[in-house]
Amino acid sequence: MKKPIYLDYNATTPHDPEVIAAMRPFFEEEFGNPSSSHYYGSKPKQAVARAREQVASLLNCQPQEIIFTSGGTESNNFAIKGCAAAFGHRGRHIITSQIEHPAVLEVCRFLETNDYDIAILPVDEFGRVSVDDVAAAIKPETVLISIMHANNEVGTIEPIAQIAQLAKKHDIILHTDAAQSVGKMPVDVNRLGVDLLSIAGHKIYAPKGVGALYVRPGLVPEKFMHGAGQEMAARAGTENVLEIVGLGMACEIAQRDLEKNMKHMQSMRDRLYAGLKKGCDPVKRNGHPQKCLPNTLSISFLGMAANRILDAIGTEVAASAGAACHSDTVKLSAVLEAMNVPLEWAQGTVRLTTGRGTTAADIDKAVQVICAAVKKIRPEG
Ligand SMILES: Cc1ncc(COP(=O)(O)O)c(C=O)c1O
Repeated sequence: MKKPIYLDYNATTPHDPEVIAAMRPFFEEEFGNPSSSHYYGSKPKQAVARAREQVASLLNCQPQEIIFTSGGTESNNFAIKGCAAAFGHRGRHIITSQIEHPAVLEVCRFLETNDYDIAILPVDEFGRVSVDDVAAAIKPETVLISIMHANNEVGTIEPIAQIAQLAKKHDIILHTDAAQSVGKMPVDVNRLGVDLLSIAGHKIYAPKGVGALYVRPGLVPEKFMHGAGQEMAARAGTENVLEIVGLGMACEIAQRDLEKNMKHMQSMRDRLYAGLKKGCDPVKRNGHPQKCLPNTLSISFLGMAANRILDAIGTEVAASAGAACHSDTVKLSAVLEAMNVPLEWAQGTVRLTTGRGTTAADIDKAVQVICAAVKKIRPEG
Protein backbone atom coordinates (compact mmCIF):
# COMPACT_ATOMS: atom_id res chain seq x y z
CA MET A 1 0.00 0.00 0.00
CA LYS A 2 1.25 3.47 -0.87
CA LYS A 3 1.57 5.58 2.27
CA PRO A 4 -0.43 8.83 2.58
CA ILE A 5 1.36 12.08 1.72
CA TYR A 6 2.69 13.48 4.98
CA LEU A 7 1.54 17.06 5.63
CA ASP A 8 1.79 17.05 9.42
CA TYR A 9 5.36 18.23 10.04
CA ASN A 10 4.30 20.37 13.02
CA ALA A 11 3.16 17.17 14.78
CA THR A 12 6.50 15.48 14.24
CA THR A 13 9.18 14.99 11.59
CA PRO A 14 10.84 11.89 10.15
CA HIS A 15 14.43 11.14 11.21
CA ASP A 16 16.99 12.78 8.97
CA PRO A 17 19.34 10.15 7.49
CA GLU A 18 22.34 12.24 8.66
CA VAL A 19 20.87 12.20 12.18
CA ILE A 20 20.52 8.42 12.03
CA ALA A 21 24.10 8.06 10.76
CA ALA A 22 25.42 10.25 13.60
CA MET A 23 23.49 8.22 16.18
CA ARG A 24 24.35 4.76 14.85
CA PRO A 25 27.74 4.29 16.58
CA PHE A 26 26.12 5.13 19.93
CA PHE A 27 23.51 2.48 19.31
CA GLU A 28 25.84 -0.20 18.08
CA GLU A 29 29.20 0.30 19.83
CA GLU A 30 29.61 3.31 22.09
CA PHE A 31 27.48 2.22 25.02
CA GLY A 32 29.64 3.79 27.74
CA ASN A 33 28.39 6.12 30.45
CA PRO A 34 29.67 9.66 29.79
CA SER A 35 30.39 10.00 33.52
CA SER A 36 32.81 7.03 33.49
CA SER A 37 36.42 8.11 33.64
CA HIS A 38 37.66 4.99 31.78
CA TYR A 39 37.96 4.22 28.07
CA TYR A 40 34.27 3.51 27.50
CA GLY A 41 33.11 6.85 28.86
CA SER A 42 35.36 8.95 26.71
CA LYS A 43 33.58 8.90 23.30
CA PRO A 44 30.07 9.34 24.80
CA LYS A 45 31.35 12.23 26.90
CA GLN A 46 32.92 13.91 23.86
CA ALA A 47 29.75 13.28 21.86
CA VAL A 48 27.51 14.95 24.46
CA ALA A 49 29.90 17.92 24.56
CA ARG A 50 29.86 18.15 20.77
CA ALA A 51 26.05 18.02 20.70
CA ARG A 52 25.91 20.82 23.25
CA GLU A 53 28.09 22.91 20.95
CA GLN A 54 25.86 22.13 17.96
CA VAL A 55 22.67 23.17 19.81
CA ALA A 56 24.37 26.29 21.20
CA SER A 57 25.63 27.28 17.77
CA LEU A 58 22.12 27.10 16.29
CA LEU A 59 20.72 29.27 19.09
CA ASN A 60 23.78 31.61 19.23
CA CYS A 61 24.69 30.94 22.84
CA GLN A 62 27.43 29.19 24.81
CA PRO A 63 27.39 25.38 25.20
CA GLN A 64 27.21 25.61 29.01
CA GLU A 65 23.90 27.50 28.61
CA ILE A 66 22.22 24.40 27.15
CA ILE A 67 20.61 21.72 29.34
CA PHE A 68 19.46 18.52 27.63
CA THR A 69 15.96 17.35 28.53
CA SER A 70 13.47 14.71 27.41
CA GLY A 71 11.69 17.10 25.02
CA GLY A 72 9.62 20.25 24.68
CA THR A 73 7.26 19.34 27.50
CA GLU A 74 10.05 18.83 29.99
CA SER A 75 11.86 21.97 28.90
CA ASN A 76 8.70 24.01 29.48
CA ASN A 77 8.01 22.34 32.85
CA PHE A 78 11.61 22.86 33.88
CA ALA A 79 11.64 26.55 32.92
CA ILE A 80 8.30 27.49 34.46
CA LYS A 81 8.23 25.34 37.59
CA GLY A 82 11.96 25.84 38.09
CA CYS A 83 11.64 29.65 38.04
CA ALA A 84 8.45 29.60 40.12
CA ALA A 85 10.23 27.55 42.78
CA ALA A 86 13.51 29.44 42.73
CA PHE A 87 12.08 32.97 42.53
CA GLY A 88 8.64 32.59 44.14
CA HIS A 89 9.93 34.67 47.07
CA ARG A 90 10.20 37.64 44.65
CA GLY A 91 6.58 37.32 43.57
CA ARG A 92 3.97 34.74 42.61
CA HIS A 93 2.48 36.31 39.48
CA ILE A 94 3.08 34.71 36.07
CA ILE A 95 1.97 36.01 32.66
CA THR A 96 1.20 33.66 29.76
CA SER A 97 -1.19 33.55 26.78
CA GLN A 98 -4.33 31.73 25.67
CA ILE A 99 -2.63 30.11 22.69
CA GLU A 100 0.20 28.32 24.50
CA HIS A 101 0.72 24.60 24.07
CA PRO A 102 -0.68 22.55 26.99
CA ALA A 103 2.97 21.98 28.00
CA VAL A 104 2.90 25.61 29.17
CA LEU A 105 -0.75 26.24 29.99
CA GLU A 106 -1.21 23.11 32.09
CA VAL A 107 1.98 23.87 34.01
CA CYS A 108 0.61 27.34 34.79
CA ARG A 109 -2.75 25.84 35.81
CA PHE A 110 -0.91 23.48 38.12
CA LEU A 111 0.95 26.40 39.69
CA GLU A 112 -2.39 28.17 40.14
CA THR A 113 -3.42 25.36 42.48
CA ASN A 114 -0.23 26.15 44.41
CA ASP A 115 -1.10 29.79 45.05
CA TYR A 116 0.47 31.33 41.99
CA ASP A 117 -1.56 34.03 40.29
CA ILE A 118 -1.67 33.42 36.52
CA ALA A 119 -2.61 36.07 33.93
CA ILE A 120 -3.63 34.40 30.65
CA LEU A 121 -3.52 37.07 27.94
CA PRO A 122 -5.88 37.06 24.95
CA VAL A 123 -4.70 37.25 21.32
CA ASP A 124 -5.98 39.17 18.29
CA GLU A 125 -7.72 37.63 15.26
CA PHE A 126 -4.30 36.59 13.89
CA GLY A 127 -3.24 34.85 17.10
CA ARG A 128 -0.81 37.62 18.17
CA VAL A 129 -0.32 38.64 21.77
CA SER A 130 -0.31 42.43 22.19
CA VAL A 131 2.80 43.94 23.78
CA ASP A 132 0.54 46.57 25.37
CA ASP A 133 -1.49 43.79 27.00
CA VAL A 134 1.71 42.34 28.43
CA ALA A 135 2.69 45.78 29.76
CA ALA A 136 -0.76 46.24 31.33
CA ALA A 137 -0.64 42.81 32.98
CA ILE A 138 2.70 43.40 34.73
CA LYS A 139 2.43 43.76 38.51
CA PRO A 140 5.11 44.33 41.14
CA GLU A 141 4.79 40.60 41.95
CA THR A 142 5.28 39.41 38.34
CA VAL A 143 8.17 36.98 38.38
CA LEU A 144 7.91 35.25 34.98
CA ILE A 145 6.47 35.77 31.50
CA SER A 146 6.07 32.68 29.30
CA ILE A 147 4.92 33.39 25.72
CA MET A 148 5.56 31.00 22.84
CA HIS A 149 7.77 31.99 19.92
CA ALA A 150 5.54 30.52 17.18
CA ASN A 151 2.20 28.81 17.48
CA ASN A 152 1.92 25.12 16.57
CA GLU A 153 -1.61 25.30 15.12
CA VAL A 154 -1.69 28.50 13.09
CA GLY A 155 2.03 29.34 12.83
CA THR A 156 1.74 32.92 14.14
CA ILE A 157 5.04 34.36 15.36
CA GLU A 158 4.81 36.31 18.62
CA PRO A 159 6.56 39.65 19.34
CA ILE A 160 9.11 38.12 21.72
CA ALA A 161 11.88 40.70 21.23
CA GLN A 162 9.49 43.54 22.21
CA ILE A 163 8.17 41.57 25.17
CA ALA A 164 11.80 40.99 26.20
CA GLN A 165 12.43 44.73 26.38
CA LEU A 166 9.49 45.08 28.75
CA ALA A 167 10.59 42.11 30.83
CA LYS A 168 14.09 43.51 31.13
CA LYS A 169 12.79 46.94 32.16
CA HIS A 170 10.76 45.39 34.97
CA ASP A 171 13.36 42.74 35.91
CA ILE A 172 11.03 39.88 35.02
CA ILE A 173 12.28 36.51 33.73
CA LEU A 174 11.17 35.71 30.15
CA HIS A 175 10.69 32.18 28.83
CA THR A 176 9.67 31.26 25.30
CA ASP A 177 8.57 27.90 23.93
CA ALA A 178 10.39 27.71 20.60
CA ALA A 179 9.53 24.06 19.86
CA GLN A 180 7.93 25.06 16.55
CA SER A 181 10.17 27.90 15.43
CA VAL A 182 13.61 26.30 15.79
CA GLY A 183 14.69 24.85 12.44
CA LYS A 184 11.95 26.74 10.56
CA MET A 185 13.25 30.31 11.04
CA PRO A 186 16.27 31.99 12.63
CA VAL A 187 16.16 31.65 16.41
CA ASP A 188 18.83 33.61 18.28
CA VAL A 189 18.47 33.83 22.04
CA ASN A 190 20.37 37.14 22.16
CA ARG A 191 18.35 38.80 19.42
CA LEU A 192 15.17 37.60 21.08
CA GLY A 193 16.46 38.69 24.49
CA VAL A 194 14.95 35.73 26.31
CA ASP A 195 16.18 34.18 29.56
CA LEU A 196 14.94 30.66 28.84
CA LEU A 197 14.02 28.95 25.56
CA SER A 198 12.63 25.45 24.99
CA ILE A 199 13.31 23.21 22.01
CA ALA A 200 12.03 19.75 21.01
CA GLY A 201 14.11 17.27 18.97
CA HIS A 202 11.28 15.57 17.12
CA LYS A 203 10.18 18.80 15.44
CA ILE A 204 13.60 19.14 13.78
CA TYR A 205 14.16 15.64 12.34
CA ALA A 206 15.72 14.16 15.51
CA PRO A 207 13.97 11.44 17.54
CA LYS A 208 11.12 11.91 20.00
CA GLY A 209 12.04 12.10 23.68
CA VAL A 210 14.89 14.56 23.53
CA GLY A 211 14.99 18.35 23.79
CA ALA A 212 16.91 21.18 25.34
CA LEU A 213 16.45 24.23 27.50
CA TYR A 214 18.54 27.36 27.02
CA VAL A 215 19.16 29.13 30.33
CA ARG A 216 20.78 32.58 30.41
CA PRO A 217 23.99 32.64 32.48
CA GLY A 218 23.45 33.73 36.06
CA LEU A 219 19.86 32.46 36.14
CA VAL A 220 19.48 29.31 38.25
CA PRO A 221 16.02 27.73 38.18
CA GLU A 222 15.24 24.99 40.72
CA LYS A 223 16.39 21.56 39.49
CA PHE A 224 13.79 19.62 37.59
CA MET A 225 15.29 16.21 38.40
CA HIS A 226 17.11 15.71 41.67
CA GLY A 227 19.86 13.13 41.75
CA ALA A 228 23.45 12.98 40.58
CA GLY A 229 25.32 15.91 39.08
CA GLN A 230 24.73 15.54 35.35
CA GLU A 231 23.98 18.53 33.09
CA MET A 232 26.03 20.97 35.18
CA ALA A 233 24.06 19.70 38.21
CA ALA A 234 20.84 21.17 36.76
CA ARG A 235 19.13 17.99 35.55
CA ALA A 236 20.08 14.67 37.08
CA GLY A 237 20.05 11.33 35.28
CA THR A 238 22.50 9.50 33.03
CA GLU A 239 22.50 11.34 29.73
CA ASN A 240 20.42 10.00 26.84
CA VAL A 241 23.60 9.95 24.76
CA LEU A 242 22.08 8.37 21.65
CA GLU A 243 19.34 10.94 21.30
CA ILE A 244 21.44 13.87 22.45
CA VAL A 245 23.81 13.04 19.58
CA GLY A 246 20.77 12.98 17.25
CA LEU A 247 19.56 16.35 18.52
CA GLY A 248 23.02 17.85 18.07
CA MET A 249 23.24 16.65 14.47
CA ALA A 250 19.70 17.85 13.77
CA CYS A 251 20.67 21.32 15.03
CA GLU A 252 23.80 21.35 12.86
CA ILE A 253 21.71 20.49 9.79
CA ALA A 254 19.03 23.03 10.74
CA GLN A 255 21.67 25.76 10.91
CA ARG A 256 23.49 24.68 7.75
CA ASP A 257 20.38 24.35 5.58
CA LEU A 258 18.07 26.92 7.17
CA GLU A 259 17.77 29.32 4.21
CA LYS A 260 17.21 26.50 1.72
CA ASN A 261 14.69 24.70 3.92
CA MET A 262 12.75 27.87 4.75
CA LYS A 263 12.38 28.72 1.07
CA HIS A 264 11.37 25.19 0.17
CA MET A 265 8.79 24.78 2.95
CA GLN A 266 7.29 28.17 2.16
CA SER A 267 7.03 27.57 -1.57
CA MET A 268 5.32 24.22 -0.91
CA ARG A 269 2.96 25.79 1.64
CA ASP A 270 2.11 28.66 -0.72
CA ARG A 271 1.50 26.26 -3.62
CA LEU A 272 -0.83 24.28 -1.37
CA TYR A 273 -2.79 27.34 -0.31
CA ALA A 274 -3.08 28.62 -3.89
CA GLY A 275 -4.31 25.20 -5.04
CA LEU A 276 -6.90 24.88 -2.28
CA LYS A 277 -8.14 28.42 -2.75
CA LYS A 278 -8.57 27.83 -6.45
CA GLY A 279 -10.06 24.37 -6.13
CA CYS A 280 -12.34 24.57 -3.08
CA ASP A 281 -13.25 28.14 -2.23
CA PRO A 282 -14.75 29.41 0.07
CA VAL A 283 -11.74 28.88 2.30
CA LYS A 284 -10.22 31.06 5.01
CA ARG A 285 -6.64 31.06 6.15
CA ASN A 286 -5.98 31.39 9.89
CA GLY A 287 -2.93 32.96 11.49
CA HIS A 288 -0.92 36.04 10.66
CA PRO A 289 -0.51 36.58 6.90
CA GLN A 290 3.15 37.65 7.20
CA LYS A 291 4.34 36.89 10.73
CA CYS A 292 3.90 33.18 10.27
CA LEU A 293 6.05 30.04 10.17
CA PRO A 294 7.02 29.28 6.56
CA ASN A 295 5.54 25.78 6.61
CA THR A 296 2.18 26.19 8.35
CA LEU A 297 -1.24 26.45 6.70
CA SER A 298 -4.28 26.48 8.97
CA ILE A 299 -7.20 26.53 6.58
CA SER A 300 -10.95 26.54 7.26
CA PHE A 301 -13.62 25.16 4.94
CA LEU A 302 -16.93 26.94 5.47
CA GLY A 303 -19.70 24.91 7.09
CA MET A 304 -17.75 21.67 7.20
CA ALA A 305 -16.51 19.32 9.92
CA ALA A 306 -12.72 18.88 9.91
CA ASN A 307 -12.89 15.25 11.02
CA ARG A 308 -15.07 14.35 8.05
CA ILE A 309 -12.50 15.88 5.70
CA LEU A 310 -9.62 14.08 7.43
CA ASP A 311 -11.51 10.77 7.32
CA ALA A 312 -12.25 11.21 3.63
CA ILE A 313 -8.61 11.99 2.71
CA GLY A 314 -6.94 9.76 5.32
CA THR A 315 -5.67 7.02 3.00
CA GLU A 316 -4.00 9.62 0.76
CA VAL A 317 -3.12 12.66 2.90
CA ALA A 318 -2.07 12.83 6.58
CA ALA A 319 -2.98 16.14 8.29
CA SER A 320 -4.43 17.39 11.60
CA ALA A 321 -7.74 18.93 12.61
CA GLY A 322 -8.24 22.28 14.32
CA ALA A 323 -11.45 20.99 15.84
CA ALA A 324 -12.55 17.60 17.15
CA CYS A 325 -16.11 16.64 16.26
CA HIS A 326 -18.06 13.91 18.02
CA SER A 327 -21.40 13.31 16.25
CA ASP A 328 -23.45 16.31 17.37
CA THR A 329 -20.85 18.26 19.37
CA VAL A 330 -17.79 20.08 18.10
CA LYS A 331 -14.83 20.86 20.35
CA LEU A 332 -12.90 23.74 18.89
CA SER A 333 -9.20 24.11 19.50
CA ALA A 334 -8.46 26.65 22.22
CA VAL A 335 -6.27 28.52 19.73
CA LEU A 336 -9.05 29.06 17.16
CA GLU A 337 -11.41 29.97 19.98
CA ALA A 338 -8.95 32.51 21.35
CA MET A 339 -8.68 34.01 17.84
CA ASN A 340 -12.47 34.27 17.67
CA VAL A 341 -12.68 32.30 14.44
CA PRO A 342 -16.44 32.04 13.77
CA LEU A 343 -17.85 28.58 14.52
CA GLU A 344 -18.98 27.88 10.95
CA TRP A 345 -15.38 28.32 9.83
CA ALA A 346 -13.56 27.01 12.90
CA GLN A 347 -15.22 23.60 12.89
CA GLY A 348 -13.96 22.94 9.35
CA THR A 349 -10.32 23.78 10.11
CA VAL A 350 -7.48 21.58 8.95
CA ARG A 351 -3.78 22.11 9.72
CA LEU A 352 -1.47 21.26 6.84
CA THR A 353 2.26 21.61 7.47
CA THR A 354 5.04 21.11 4.95
CA GLY A 355 8.60 19.94 5.54
CA ARG A 356 11.92 19.25 3.92
CA GLY A 357 10.62 16.13 2.24
CA THR A 358 7.49 17.69 0.69
CA THR A 359 7.55 17.73 -3.13
CA ALA A 360 5.54 19.75 -5.66
CA ALA A 361 4.02 16.47 -6.84
CA ASP A 362 2.89 15.75 -3.25
CA ILE A 363 1.26 19.17 -3.05
CA ASP A 364 -0.54 18.86 -6.38
CA LYS A 365 -1.85 15.42 -5.43
CA ALA A 366 -2.90 16.63 -1.97
CA VAL A 367 -4.79 19.58 -3.49
CA GLN A 368 -6.61 17.23 -5.82
CA VAL A 369 -7.52 14.79 -3.01
CA ILE A 370 -8.63 17.49 -0.54
CA CYS A 371 -10.70 19.40 -3.12
CA ALA A 372 -12.42 16.20 -4.27
CA ALA A 373 -13.28 15.32 -0.64
CA VAL A 374 -14.52 18.83 0.16
CA LYS A 375 -16.75 18.91 -2.93
CA LYS A 376 -18.20 15.53 -2.03
CA ILE A 377 -18.93 16.40 1.59
CA ARG A 378 -19.79 20.10 1.36
CA PRO A 379 -23.47 20.76 1.94
CA GLU A 380 -25.25 22.29 -1.07
CA GLY A 381 -25.56 26.03 -0.49
C1 LIG B 1 4.68 24.55 20.75
C2 LIG B 1 4.97 23.21 21.35
N1 LIG B 1 5.47 23.14 22.60
C3 LIG B 1 5.74 21.97 23.19
C4 LIG B 1 5.51 20.78 22.55
C5 LIG B 1 5.78 19.49 23.28
O1 LIG B 1 7.01 18.96 22.87
P1 LIG B 1 7.33 17.40 23.15
O2 LIG B 1 6.40 16.63 22.27
O3 LIG B 1 8.77 17.25 22.74
O4 LIG B 1 7.14 17.15 24.58
C6 LIG B 1 4.97 20.79 21.25
C7 LIG B 1 4.66 19.52 20.56
O5 LIG B 1 3.65 19.39 19.91
C8 LIG B 1 4.69 22.04 20.64
O6 LIG B 1 4.20 22.12 19.42
